[in-house]
Amino acid sequence: MTSDYKYQSGFGNEFESEDPRCPGAVPKGQNNPQKCAYGLYAEQLSGTAFTAPRESNQRTWFYRILPSAKHTPFSTYAHPYVSCNWNEQLPNPNQLRWNPFDIPSEKTDWVDGLRTIAGAGDSRTRTGLTVHVYVCNSNMVDKAFYNSDGDMLVVPQAGELDITTEFGKLKVNPNQICVIQQGIRFSVNVSGPSRGYILEVFDNHFVLPNLGPIGANGLANPRDFLTPVAWFENRTAEFKIVNKYQGHLFQAIQDHSPFDVVGWHGNYAPYKYDLANFCTINSVSFDHVDPSIFTVLTCPSNKPGTAVADFVIFPARWSVAENTFRPPYYHRNCMSEFMGLILGKYEAKESGFNPGGATLHSMMTPHGPDADCFKDWSETVRGAIKVAEGTQAFMFESSYQLALTKWSEKTCNKIDEDYYNCWQKLNNNFSLN
Ligand code: FE2
Repeated sequence: MTSDYKYQSGFGNEFESEDPRCPGAVPKGQNNPQKCAYGLYAEQLSGTAFTAPRESNQRTWFYRILPSAKHTPFSTYAHPYVSCNWNEQLPNPNQLRWNPFDIPSEKTDWVDGLRTIAGAGDSRTRTGLTVHVYVCNSNMVDKAFYNSDGDMLVVPQAGELDITTEFGKLKVNPNQICVIQQGIRFSVNVSGPSRGYILEVFDNHFVLPNLGPIGANGLANPRDFLTPVAWFENRTAEFKIVNKYQGHLFQAIQDHSPFDVVGWHGNYAPYKYDLANFCTINSVSFDHVDPSIFTVLTCPSNKPGTAVADFVIFPARWSVAENTFRPPYYHRNCMSEFMGLILGKYEAKESGFNPGGATLHSMMTPHGPDADCFKDWSETVRGAIKVAEGTQAFMFESSYQLALTKWSEKTCNKIDEDYYNCWQKLNNNFSLN
């Protein structure tokens, strides 16, 4: 699908953008003139501590029609499915698989369609993550959302998201992702039944993984990340601002659109990325490379090389390794692995894992190919073949232990109780001869 919106290219750039209706809206040579052009207000959005090191410091200056501060006091926004309570259930160490999450038939917008699946940590101490899904079918009308808790990496699986942000507009389709950082106000329109996954992180912002000996290019290239250009509306309305704060939702009313930023400059801005642009790297001789080679974005922890969460994809690619069991190896991991499926079928399990569903293999929970997959790939000798064509699975891999919500474990009624059976058919092939 093509997009009629314009974007600026590059990851983490210092951008500057003005709505073409108001040239000169962004002041030259300073941030805070005594009077801004067009009677605008200057407002800074800080994405890191003022004193964060220069290489990681992120902030943006908005030049807007009214400051964000003009709104009524916050009150509770009732939402039964957004949770930060990781003690609702006993921990569950099982191999878990969910059938596709239902999209409601009654009118539901993106905020009301949020469903928390699992998480760990606490936004209050700036440590941890949450995995949500969204299931919705209607537009957010005169309603905007912002998250005081963390950054959200959004992975649409069904339906295009037409997102208006304070920075401008972006369209995100299945097989594309976007990141909307802490504090940024946005509103989502959809064109029909829509579903997707969200990785929310508290510790840090997402960065591109280091490439080490890969060199200067490959994996997700910085130029393929796209940030909106400034767009504003000068509109009076009873606008509802929904805020996620310490895991709970609150609402405030304001008499003006929050999408009134006429120009902005800075390096703290939302972006989108098309997963089709991922330059996949893997073994061209033998053995199965660890899936970290497919990392698109990572949210680093303070422990070197250890992520709060990695966003990893399993794109179409050539499989060529010789004398090698090519599917994912049998595995126990000191990380938690939450997987979702955007398109098609996942290569290690041809049935049961469906688009819009999910799996969770928790810390040290054994997993790997099912019996049929093992038999086929260990017996058939293959040359160079294209694998995963027409599919896109992804993984949120975290160094935290994830707790399930009551909704994901019970209420949604989507857990596949037979999942463990996919390993029961594995035979003992041992022979001294
Ligand atoms: Fe794994």
